[in-house]
Amino acid sequence: MDRRDRLIARARQGYRLAYGVEPMRFYAAPGRVNLIGEHVDYNDGFVLPCAIDRETIVAAGPPAPQTRDKLFEAVALDMGDPRSGGGASARDRFDLLAPIRPGENNWQNHVRGVVQALGRYGYRVRPMRIAIAGDVPMGAGLSSSAAFGVAVALACSDYSGLQLAPELLAKVAQLAENDFVGCACGIMDQMAAAAAQAGNALLLDCRSLDTMAVPVHKSLAITVIDTGIRRSLTESAFNQRRAECEAVAQHFEIKALRDLDYGRLLRAEPDLDHTLFRRARHVVTELDRIGPVGIALAKGNTAVLAEVMREAHLSLSEDFDVSLPPIDLLAQMIAETLGDAGGVRLTGAGFGGCLVAVANHDAAGAIEEAIARYNAEADLPARAEVFRPISGAAPIPID
Ligand code: GLA
Repeated sequence: MDRRDRLIARARQGYRLAYGVEPMRFYAAPGRVNLIGEHVDYNDGFVLPCAIDRETIVAAGPPAPQTRDKLFEAVALDMGDPRSGGGASARDRFDLLAPIRPGENNWQNHVRGVVQALGRYGYRVRPMRIAIAGDVPMGAGLSSSAAFGVAVALACSDYSGLQLAPELLAKVAQLAENDFVGCACGIMDQMAAAAAQAGNALLLDCRSLDTMAVPVHKSLAITVIDTGIRRSLTESAFNQRRAECEAVAQHFEIKALRDLDYGRLLRAEPDLDHTLFRRARHVVTELDRIGPVGIALAKGNTAVLAEVMREAHLSLSEDFDVSLPPIDLLAQMIAETLGDAGGVRLTGAGFGGCLVAVANHDAAGAIEEAIARYNAEADLPARAEVFRPISGAAPIPID
């Protein structure tokens, strides 16, 4: 049984245990790792994430006969109440005919938020029951919540007889996070979860939502190095970073930092608060890194990846202030060991989480060696894993 089959079996069993019947359909959406373009999605910029072979699976079926007309029920198989020893499942139910209010737990808001967001786009969700299981690590910067939201959006819409385009699934899941969960995230993670193509990274214009598949050269491996340092996006300074970027855009009277030219920013340095200046410098320089990384990824040019990803990490650490000393240290140790064989940088929102390395397959030993040296001194051990770029959200055909 492979990873996905095990996950499907877990969702099926959880559904059966919760509701006493078999589910009728299954849906999946992946987590993502961002290769370049960090903290630029909410500045209308370009990003280059790729979906990873870690997913949220939703099993779905009809409502209980006695609640046929109005109830939505959900069981989350990885969100047990810690007081019950952890690992247990947690349940939710709400009335589809009444206004949907926030639930007690974060995961409930991801579900309720999606159902409500579909309503705001004019789509009615049928009464149904779902069970959700996933293996995207939580709080690691690999977008477990986008995988969760997009998988639930796909399950709710498809089961209700609606065929929504990937962009719409992504927007629904993002609206749920923005309004119900309270995280002012951009659209990158949801678009990666909804629209990625297997074997490719996804070049996304976050203003138009146009996408282009960028092949990952066959000589390259995408390794995610989990630092073990966990954070929560809502509680973190994420929303503050976004507000800072918006303040700079306002200063220049432009729609978003994507429209800011580097020369203009430099000329305005004396008039700008230094923190705001550094935030904008990260965004403007990061946007210049997308093209070179995209081309290097397709061509397998590891020397370019090494150089540009090093600059990207420094910019996140020094200008955007979303790294931490142990993460900087690990990034530096891996970069030094890799040399020209590949690049490494912090990925995702930061404040903990993961590094991503894009390097020659045969550099795996170098990465492991650097991690072993780091772990010998570190408080928390880091761990590397190679991921395969898989495709975005889809119903799972089951025979
Ligand atoms: C989180 C957000 C994304 C994006 C990244 C940083 O993953 O959900 O929208 O802003 O951080 O690039």
